[in-house]
Amino acid sequence: MLEVAVGTGLLFREMVKRNPDGLNEGIDLSPAMLAKCEKLLASQPAQAWHLQQASAFELPFPANHFDLLINNYMIDLLPEADFERVLGEFHRVLKPGGRAVITYFATGTRWYHFFWQKLAQYVPALLTNCRPIDLKPYVALVGFEQIQTWEISQNSFPSVVLKCVKG
Ligand SMILES: C[S@@+](CC[C@H](N)C(=O)[O-])C[C@H]1O[C@@H](n2cnc3c(N)ncnc32)[C@H](O)[C@@H]1O
Repeated sequence: MLEVAVGTGLLFREMVKRNPDGLNEGIDLSPAMLAKCEKLLASQPAQAWHLQQASAFELPFPANHFDLLINNYMIDLLPEADFERVLGEFHRVLKPGGRAVITYFATGTRWYHFFWQKLAQYVPALLTNCRPIDLKPYVALVGFEQIQTWEISQNSFPSVVLKCVKG
């Protein structure tokens, strides 16, 4: 399994716990985030995980390599012009039949989601410059199939969880 943009590693640690006999790779652009993640992973068996500094734009893995790729709250930081390239990388490194699960800041449909839209519009720095996006058309564009989405709301913050399969 691969997590792109592990951040502090909270989810990556859970992935390692659930897949102790598999190979769990994690990457992030930020050495500071990787250091935090590594600290969190200290109690997990060393052979079950591997972290490295890398960019989602150029994943340091061969084609058709992973069964599952996870990426949370990273693409909503990127310019829309880069979506296709990054998703193309996700598609490349997955095996045929492999799944990608991507979570991102979305517009949302509840009245209070409006607050988050306006915050992203007028005070983006408060949200570390992420903004609501719609990834579904781009995921289809790079060749993913069986695209499913779920709208979720965490403490009123609207996100979409998107699952898709490499055909
Ligand atoms: C908002 S944090 C999310 C971290 C984690 N996925 C989570 O949900 O808690 C965004 C992360 O994306 C990483 N990031 C940003 N651009 C990246 C890129 N091009 N390649 C890899 N990681 C990137 C940042 O370093 C940061 O750790």
